[in-house]
Amino acid sequence: MTTKPLSINSTTSLISPEIDNSAIAPNTPPLKLGVLASGSGSNFEVIAQAIQTQKLNARVQVLIYNNPEAKAAARAEKYGIPSILLNHRDCKNREELDTKIVKTLQEHDVEWVIMAGWMRIVTQVLFDAFPDKVVNIHPSLLPSFPGIRAVEQALKAGVKITGCTVHIACLEVDSGPILMQAAVPILPDDTAETLHARIQVQEHKIIVGAIALIAAPNCRSTLQSQS
Ligand code: GRF
Repeated sequence: MTTKPLSINSTTSLISPEIDNSAIAPNTPPLKLGVLASGSGSNFEVIAQAIQTQKLNARVQVLIYNNPEAKAAARAEKYGIPSILLNHRDCKNREELDTKIVKTLQEHDVEWVIMAGWMRIVTQVLFDAFPDKVVNIHPSLLPSFPGIRAVEQALKAGVKITGCTVHIACLEVDSGPILMQAAVPILPDDTAETLHARIQVQEHKIIVGAIALIAAPNCRSTLQSQS
């Protein structure tokens, strides 16, 4: 049997649940976020941008980064967001780093923690301080391809569709209740770089969409009563 290759538009994507662009509810206080980022910080920047343009009823109280080279810090400066370097190399173990993170987040009156490209495994120390209030973004359709090199894993497995996921984080790496996903087709000539670039376009939509879900007044109370 001969099969005709499916014609795929490289911008095709499917986001679920749909992003609700309805107006921000008046009289709802902004959701106070703490963002953790290790690298480029493009996801952090789209959050800051969405807040600045009033598409998101939130405020980034603080950006924490663990790598002195992280470009995220310069992005924070651009938006007037305080940024704090907590270098994991100065800590004897993961718990010590997380204890410092929790202290910094609490000092900045953070309600929800967003791991936007945070390349460290977090411990119970963080989850005890922010139960069910830690969000992660991952460049695959979880539960497929958790862990490092998710984009390479998808290419190697030969799947035809991959994507990205925003979920509530738990102790098991890249697991926990899924808030939003976007599917991204894999094209025949894709490299890890070209595919990751297209995934990031979708990440930037669902990270904002998922935080908007959390910030919505009805969702805030539901999530609070569950925790
Ligand atoms: C994203 O692909 C995210 O899914 C993964 O790390 C990358 C961070 O990108 N966890 P950026 O630093 O936000 O540009």
